Amino acid sequence: MTDTQIAKDRIAFLRGLRAVRQFRPDPVPQEVVDDILEVARWSGSAGNRQPWEFVVIRDRQTLRTLAAVEGYAAHLAGAALGIVLVMAGKRAEQEIYDEGRLCERIMLAAAAYKVGSSIGWFVGSGVEAVKEILGVPSERRVRTALSLGYPDEEAQRTRIKRGQARKPLADLVHEERHDARVR
Ligand SMILES: Cc1cc2nc3c(=O)[nH]c(=O)nc-3n(C[C@H](O)[C@H](O)[C@H](O)COP(=O)(O)O)c2cc1C
Repeated sequence: MTDTQIAKDRIAFLRGLRAVRQFRPDPVPQEVVDDILEVARWSGSAGNRQPWEFVVIRDRQTLRTLAAVEGYAAHLAGAALGIVLVMAGKRAEQEIYDEGRLCERIMLAAAAYKVGSSIGWFVGSGVEAVKEILGVPSERRVRTALSLGYPDEEAQRTRIKRGQARKPLADLVHEERHDARVR
């Protein structure tokens, strides 16, 4: 492959990342999980503080319990595993940004192995419930879980067909100045 072909291939991989919320029951091998966590570990963070820890959950009952708390992480119930991000809870503005980077890296590393994933947020009473269920100290920030597993391809095809397209670049990109005409 030429460098251009390699680049195109990587761009297609990045461009193709989509949320997957319905999974086949197959387990994800430990070597795959280890590689995903290795990529997560190397994520950049503000001041390189690495304000994160990861709780990896495979137990079906725990996944179902987490899926049922207040929030938007119902997809955990059918995932092969969940990763709950436990942030330090010290510098909110930086950690929120770091958490986003971390999520994207985990999703991309998973996708490299054709493992699908989705972000799920805990809100309201869900946050304290998750801390209680997982034994997380109260001062830590818990908001995000990632569901991971091999995609239920049929469900994914139907979902992609239904849409969730993106805005065209023509509506997004300005040359040189924001108040200049869009492309
Ligand atoms: C900050 C953030 C929070 C999100 N929270 C949730 C969530 O709580 N539950 C969920 O199912 N998906 C969540 N998502 C996934 C989005 O719904 C998804 O990225 C969006 O619908 C685009 O999906 P697609 O890439 O498959 O088209 C979240 C995504 C982001 C970036």
